[in-house]
Amino acid sequence: MSSGEQAPNVAALIGDLDRLAGAFADEIGALATEQEIRLAQARYLGKKGRVSELMKALGRLPPEERPAVGEAANRAKASIEGAVATRLAALDEADLAADLARVVDVTLPARGAALGTLHPLTLVRREIEGIFLGLGFEVRTGPWVETEWNNFDALNTPPDHPARDMQDTFFVEGGRILRSHTSPVQIRTMLSEPPPIRIVAPGNVFRRDDDATHTPMFPQMEGLLVDKGVSFADLKGTLLYFVHRFFGPNLGVRLRPSYFPFTEPSAEVDAACYLCAGSGLSAGRSCRLCKGSGWIEIGGAGMVHPNVFRAVGYDPQAVSGFAFGMGLSRMAMLKFEVDDLRSFYEHDVRFLAQFR
Ligand code: DAH
Repeated sequence: MSSGEQAPNVAALIGDLDRLAGAFADEIGALATEQEIRLAQARYLGKKGRVSELMKALGRLPPEERPAVGEAANRAKASIEGAVATRLAALDEADLAADLARVVDVTLPARGAALGTLHPLTLVRREIEGIFLGLGFEVRTGPWVETEWNNFDALNTPPDHPARDMQDTFFVEGGRILRSHTSPVQIRTMLSEPPPIRIVAPGNVFRRDDDATHTPMFPQMEGLLVDKGVSFADLKGTLLYFVHRFFGPNLGVRLRPSYFPFTEPSAEVDAACYLCAGSGLSAGRSCRLCKGSGWIEIGGAGMVHPNVFRAVGYDPQAVSGFAFGMGLSRMAMLKFEVDDLRSFYEHDVRFLAQFR
């Protein structure tokens, strides 16, 4: 004990400690955040806090008096910590009560969840599939990466045919190509199944084309029917039924002579324009959909070429068949009167949301 300093008054010290606890209790009643409360706690109990300051005097007390002061200090400390805990709990409770008061009028209507829409190309594909399923056709698909044999050779398209040109077809590694049409699904199906065959084959195809009316990938739908005694009349009747279901009853079908390597004879298929009922005039003006012609082109078709049957091991003397192919984006453009093909691939929700 340093002789120069007077020993502190024990009773006064204990009184001071007890009063500190009281002062603290008064102080934190006004504090509104945990941070303020922790700071106040540090002003009392921290290393340089008020309680610690008083305790410096402890060393100058005679040993027999120290326990009473120590006890008072512990009392003050416990009281301050207790006040902190109580105050924090009260704040928590007040927060919770405020949350509960803010929440929830259960009678308010719920915020609606925004439902997406099916893509117009999906709608059209499903509708066309449905029409042919109703006629007893089945849906078949094939891979995008194809052999040249399935895509060309077996379809009676010789190596020097212009469709095989590098400009039209995408070549990929390993001597394969991206299929340029859905017709190879005909080949795959006939190779794995005996006749009779009745299939439609939807799917994406790829060509090196890109402008307002061509995209490098686009969806097609192939059709193939093979059986004994299938005639050109069956083809026309099937197409007519399809047009009636898809575009409207009483619309005619026109077949124009054409050429495809895999069919003979071959035809371009037109349907009477549904907008002007084939008249070429709508509201006294040249029809905007068929440009006044009265017809809209919907695809290609024909009787399966004997060489195609030979390639897959069918006997062209025993069976005959017809095939057709159409562009699904074209069908969607016609059906929904969309005038830019690229709208289907830009994923603009304002465009897509129209197809509810
Ligand atoms: N594969 C042809 C194309 O992509 C479309 C086609 C025409 C398919 C006539 C056929 C058909 O099955 O008979 O241009």
